[in-house]
Amino acid sequence: MIELREATIEDREKTYKWLYYSDFSGYLNKLGGITKETIPSYEYYKKEEYMDFYFDDSQPEKGRAYIIVCRTNGKIEDVGIISYTSFHLLDKITEFDIWLKGLSYTGHGYGTKALLRLSGIVKYLGYKKVIIRPSKHNKRAIKSYQKAGFVEEDFKPENYYLADYIPKYSDGDYGHGADVFMVLTL
Ligand SMILES: CC(C)(COP(=O)(O)OP(=O)(O)OC[C@H]1O[C@@H](n2cnc3c(N)ncnc32)[C@H](O)[C@@H]1OP(=O)(O)O)[C@@H](O)C(=O)NCCC(=O)NCCS
Repeated sequence: MIELREATIEDREKTYKWLYYSDFSGYLNKLGGITKETIPSYEYYKKEEYMDFYFDDSQPEKGRAYIIVCRTNGKIEDVGIISYTSFHLLDKITEFDIWLKGLSYTGHGYGTKALLRLSGIVKYLGYKKVIIRPSKHNKRAIKSYQKAGFVEEDFKPENYYLADYIPKYSDGDYGHGADVFMVLTL
């Protein structure tokens, strides 16, 4: 059973470790052009990647993070993080990001269930579309997003991004043309 709970500031450091220092991080970092030497510091993560508002409800219009919680046979375990981010996008559009805490947690349907849960939450908040941009090499992520209802679309930044953010964000996390642009219509 998968549930989402609102992430708190105390959760932030472990989500950093899951992202940059778990057993899938080498693969994911490589896709993002990140080497051991250039892994962002935790200070950078706090200031530029997962800022306070994701954890403290101060600016829900900009975004929020949730911890993916798994309950099996009476055992409760935090198994990943999922978030929505909206500050860089046009009205009623948001972007998801998700990662689990390690490779052994992948492939059990947790990610897909978490995506479906967060889709319900952002629909309730009034959003109409969700975007997500995995690397085109990350077949497991693409499959999971398809199972959650995301569909690949030709990328036209002006249809999704606020003009001011197009220069900074339109290439995505993996460089120009290296991702799959996927959209979920709510
Ligand atoms: C991406 C992620 C959140 C997806 O969550 P998940 O719980 O693993 O996803 P699911 O188990 O629901 O679905 C994965 C699907 O991919 C399939 N799959 C796994 N490896 C695959 C591969 N190499 N090629 C094609 N499909 C693959 C699985 O069989 C499964 O499909 P199925 O249910 O039809 O069998 C999770 O794998 C993860 O955290 N990965 C590491 C971090 C990451 O890549 N984050 C995404 C950045 S954009």
